[in-house]
Amino acid sequence: MTVFKKHVFICVSGKTCPGEGAEAVLGEFRKEIGDLGLKKEIRINKAGCFDQCGNGPLVVVYPDTVWYAHVQPEDVKEIVNEHLLNDRPVTRLIYDERGRTNR
Ligand code: FES
Repeated sequence: MTVFKKHVFICVSGKTCPGEGAEAVLGEFRKEIGDLGLKKEIRINKAGCFDQCGNGPLVVVYPDTVWYAHVQPEDVKEIVNEHLLNDRPVTRLIYDERGRTNR
């Protein structure tokens, strides 16, 4: 069994993320990782509420413990290329301890 290099969790339930487009973000991540042939290295998982409602879609990447907020489908390619493939988190989308992003 393979241990994933990166594990991406996308909140698709709870009060707000579903209405903020979380399923579209999930679909885009799955498409990108599938197109790149990386399903054995990078796992994309649905997640429940992260208790940060109103800032979604919320995405969390492990083992880096990087949180992203207000992620849109058009942001996914950048997160994949920069963070998941090259370990450079996308700072403009990072959700910090103050509950903010640089967006
Ligand atoms: S609904 Fe996504 S963080 Fe609560």
